[in-house]
Amino acid sequence: MRILVTGGAGFIGSNFILYWLKNHPEDEITNLDALTYAGNLANLKSVENQDNYTFVHGNICDRELVEKVTQNMDLIVHFAAESHVDRSILNPEVFLQTNVLGTFNLLEAAVKNKVAHFHHISTDEVFGSLPLETTEKFTLSTKYDPRSPYSASKASSDHLVRAYGETYGLSYTITNCSNNYGPFQFPEKLFGLAITNIIEDKKVPVYGDGLNVRDWLFVTDHCAAIEAVIKSAAHDKTYLVGGLKKDVSNLEIVRLILKLMGKSEAEIEFVQDRPGHDRRYSVDWSQINQDLGWQPTVTLEEGLQQTINWYQENRSWWQPLKDKTASFFAQNYKKKV
Ligand code: NAD
Ligand code: TYD
Repeated sequence: MRILVTGGAGFIGSNFILYWLKNHPEDEITNLDALTYAGNLANLKSVENQDNYTFVHGNICDRELVEKVTQNMDLIVHFAAESHVDRSILNPEVFLQTNVLGTFNLLEAAVKNKVAHFHHISTDEVFGSLPLETTEKFTLSTKYDPRSPYSASKASSDHLVRAYGETYGLSYTITNCSNNYGPFQFPEKLFGLAITNIIEDKKVPVYGDGLNVRDWLFVTDHCAAIEAVIKSAAHDKTYLVGGLKKDVSNLEIVRLILKLMGKSEAEIEFVQDRPGHDRRYSVDWSQINQDLGWQPTVTLEEGLQQTINWYQENRSWWQPLKDKTASFFAQNYKKKV
């Protein structure tokens, strides 16, 4: 099978390429990535010389290029996106360009070049925010209610994918996954930032009261869910993918990281909250479990320890990225007054 992966130099995309080439060596992957601040070819060093892997440096908003690279593809797995909510608050325009118009370009090209199947990677954030102190979960019948420029742009892309299925007969699947963590995550998202700040002897910033809840999933479990959907799901299906059985707040996550790294809670610094900060995400992933037998395999404790080990062993990977991102940190973080 010839597969076009978009955004394959990012966190989940690169984990997916490594996962796929290991488990499906007979397939050929072309990785189309613009190498924004979040894209890093170092993630793919171990496969860069393989005959069944090709990198194309380019933007999914470049229509001519997208038309060219989608020729003769059997499958598109679409990860490329601007993915950080905080950046979408500071600079929303690029989110609309990449996540909406870029997805539109890919869909146009997929139809024109008769690509057999399009798998779209999306997020649980399209469903908005659940209240704390409930057991309510996002399900396949939850209405879309995005509340940040990031989630609104991803919601838009989901609608476009479905519209191309209905209108032009494009075969597609969508996965809406909860927050991922693991190796190669850009060190400005919660896990990478907390772990690397501790290594650097810096405080760990926690937004607001720290009680916000995310449904954390280890990245290789997400890759396995995508694989299950690509291999076995009926066409035009959407699946929700999530990780945890019970709520864990950001504060609990940070306390756990500090404990595993032998540090005290004095390292926590409460900072000004994110505007429009979604309170709680929780995903009902029973459908993908029932239909395809998928379930998370890595517990939070195991995944956290693996992630901590990885950042401890790979300082040369993250330190330059953090240094380059200093201006974002300066803009984004304000101490609580
Ligand atoms: P990331 O920010 O780490 O990586 C994004 C990649 O896309 C980078 O390699 C970047 O260079 C590339 N890219 C960005 N704009 C591009 C463009 N215009 N053209 C070509 N390439 C471009 O993101 P991630 O965390 O790996 O997320 C990947 C996908 O998964 C996104 O679609 C995101 O919405 C979705 N998702 C992420 C999470 C999460 O917790 N990180 C959870 C659910 C869904
Ligand atoms: P993040 O990793 O940015 O993912 P998302 O906003 O897409 O869910 O943030 C995860 C949670 O952690 C979110 O509730 C915001 C919070 N957070 C902090 O408290 N401090 C931080 O420095 C960061 C980056 C996030």
